[in-house]
Amino acid sequence: MEKLYKPKNSIYSLIQLISLTLVLSTPQSSEIISRFQHYLQINTAQPNPDYTSATNFILSQSKALNLESQTIEFVKGKPVILLKWIGKYPKLPSILLNSHTDVVPVEQHKWTHPPFNAHIDEVGHIYARGSQDMKCVGLQYLEAIRALKDRGFEPVRTVYVSFVPDEEIGGHDGAEKFAQSEVFEKMNVGIVLDEGLASPNENYRVFYGERCPWWLVIKASGAPGHGAKLFDNSAMENLLKSIESVRRFRASQFDLVKAGLKAEGEVVSVNMVFLKAGTPSPTGFVMNLQPSEAEAGFDIRVPPTADPESLEKRIAEEWAPSSRNMTFQLGQFKQKGSVHDKSEKPALTAADMSNPWWVLLEEAVKKANRKLDKPEVFPASTDARYFRERGLPAIGFSPMANTPVLLHDHNEFLNKAEYLKGVEIYESIIKDYASYIEKPSGDASKEEL
Ligand SMILES: *[C@@H]1O[C@H](CO)[C@@H](O)[C@H](O)[C@H]1NC(C)=O
Ligand SMILES: [Zn+2]
Repeated sequence: MEKLYKPKNSIYSLIQLISLTLVLSTPQSSEIISRFQHYLQINTAQPNPDYTSATNFILSQSKALNLESQTIEFVKGKPVILLKWIGKYPKLPSILLNSHTDVVPVEQHKWTHPPFNAHIDEVGHIYARGSQDMKCVGLQYLEAIRALKDRGFEPVRTVYVSFVPDEEIGGHDGAEKFAQSEVFEKMNVGIVLDEGLASPNENYRVFYGERCPWWLVIKASGAPGHGAKLFDNSAMENLLKSIESVRRFRASQFDLVKAGLKAEGEVVSVNMVFLKAGTPSPTGFVMNLQPSEAEAGFDIRVPPTADPESLEKRIAEEWAPSSRNMTFQLGQFKQKGSVHDKSEKPALTAADMSNPWWVLLEEAVKKANRKLDKPEVFPASTDARYFRERGLPAIGFSPMANTPVLLHDHNEFLNKAEYLKGVEIYESIIKDYASYIEKPSGDASKEEL
């Protein structure tokens, strides 16, 4: 990252630096950056996000842009802000540009610049919690709309911009309720854009699906016994056998990633997150007693292409077999999040020629002189899953190239040149999306109009 902005005497880098400086010094771009800083300075960190200030700020932006706006509280104190730029053919399926307003907490003392100051250093890095995840995207949508409006562009399709709360704590009171609402139904959404991840190279990353979290707790029981006695089937022994089995599976998946055969989002990840056993004593644990119960917890992530039945079978037969006196529980996420959409198909958005929105995105990015990397499955969760569950296409995309992945990390930053480039990219995408009319090849598309 540093390399890009600390050129080593090469003419190419010098030219790059000069052109960068030119781009950065226009009065327009400094306004764009200060609006971004303003949004970043609002502390919307969980668990006590300042949604009121964020809402006021977004509504003021919306007003300046002449967009229709409404604030919907599906849950009190958790506003979903919905902006609307009406198209010439409002009956066509609309475009939804989604972002979340909350950010993850910070460990203030581990930051070199205060996380809610949005300080810009000498190379143009803007330091703030949310600079990558994902206040950048939310405001880039609005800046792109501003630029398009300034140019007199008029959308054919209606463009919605939504700012939702609580993504960082699961999105249940935000995007989930929004996606299931009547308001959403009436919006007749055709395509959703949501967040992606930064890319350390010069291409953008793009996501067409995501893994589903399964939180697993396994519990072993067995006869207690003296700490000195060797006997079979103690709770600890039973649990250790399971842990060995889980570890073998974990290694088999990780090996595929290490060998470059699969991407991180394409394998089942399993990580042990807690171990609970032992008989407490005033000084710690009773050391000469083998306990009668032992538990372990795992965070499992299941890609949409995996077979959930066979994984469940593996859990029941190998990781927590009743024959070994073990029980298991799959947490609430298992019941809620499904790797399938409402029509029982894997919740994946087609990332090929069969999906016109995909083709448009690829071309729009190309027109703005950037490229997309091979589409990926998002390794963790985002709000996009609630839209995909409805059967809608949703693409995860945050235009941050040449940027280390720092979401949820200390010293999260985004360079201002990269931020401005992102605005340009969205201008290109929104323009093409909002102008898109299907070729009248069949009756269906005519009817749509
Ligand atoms: C399971 O529990 C029963 C009853 O406590 C015990 O007799 C049996 O040996 C245990 N089996 C295993 C495999 O732990
Ligand atoms: Zn995010």
